[in-house]
Amino acid sequence: MAHDFTNHVALVTGGASGMGLATAKAFAESGAAVAVADINGEAAQKVADELVANGHRAIAIECDVTDEMAVKAMVEKTVATYGRLDAAFNNAGVQSIATETADLESQEFDRVLDINLKGLWSCMKYELQVMREQGSGAIVNCSSLGGFVGVPGRGAYHAAKHGVLGLTKTAALEYADQGIRINAVCPGIIDTPMVAGMKTEETEAMDLLMQQVPARRLGTAEEIADPVLWLCGPGSTFVMGHALAVDGGYTVR
Ligand SMILES: NC(=O)c1ccc[n+]([C@@H]2O[C@H](COP(=O)([O-])OP(=O)(O)OC[C@H]3O[C@@H](n4cnc5c(N)ncnc54)[C@H](O)[C@@H]3O)[C@@H](O)[C@H]2O)c1
Repeated sequence: MAHDFTNHVALVTGGASGMGLATAKAFAESGAAVAVADINGEAAQKVADELVANGHRAIAIECDVTDEMAVKAMVEKTVATYGRLDAAFNNAGVQSIATETADLESQEFDRVLDINLKGLWSCMKYELQVMREQGSGAIVNCSSLGGFVGVPGRGAYHAAKHGVLGLTKTAALEYADQGIRINAVCPGIIDTPMVAGMKTEETEAMDLLMQQVPARRLGTAEEIADPVLWLCGPGSTFVMGHALAVDGGYTVR
């Protein structure tokens, strides 16, 4: 066991798939009780059932992060079940439809910002209310290489992911002396269902993007889960407001 989260409680949004799933699993295997939250309640339940069947502690919570009251209820259910909240990975997110800025529909801009930025803010809001009361906790927000750089056709997504870093840094400063650390992970191109969809629908654009990855391969969801656990654990107690690129060298150029 690389990390030890025995007696800790972790909440993962978007926990039914991809990096959220890998992180929920990693937390559970490291001893944490895990709340697996997702808009797809059935898939979240399946993940929680599997974790429990493997001897771990887990619950599923159906939650659309764009619904602030559902987010409040998600945090309340986690605390009602396990008594506290030590770690949260705010990971739920969607890719935007590839469109150049002049043609981007405002509904699409709102959809992506509502999930990827406002939804994440609302998760932080209710998690922080619990952590502030406890005087302890760690939050990792899922940004992206899109939090550092632009990619043509992805204005809404990259705006949201840049925004995630602004929220992360601000909250990190607000709670730095209260035992609460807030950081962000910035994945590169990771082999998840989200990217599988992009590979099928936008093969040429994805090929071009892949050519720019120094590591010349996709990352794995587990390669994101491990740094997320590190950012939540005792190895990173002086790391605050940091945006950790985990991208096979993409943003080093
Ligand atoms: N895959 C990549 O290459 C990549 C790179 C950088 C950042 N990211 C970010 O990582 C995060 C996870 O992506 P992934 O690749 O694992 O994708 P994924 O599609 O495999 O998983 C995303 C999960 O989020 C859930 N979700 C979507 N909308 C939601 C909502 N409104 N409320 C609650 N849950 C919702 C989905 O049901 C799904 O289970 C996202 O924030 C994404 O933007 C992904």
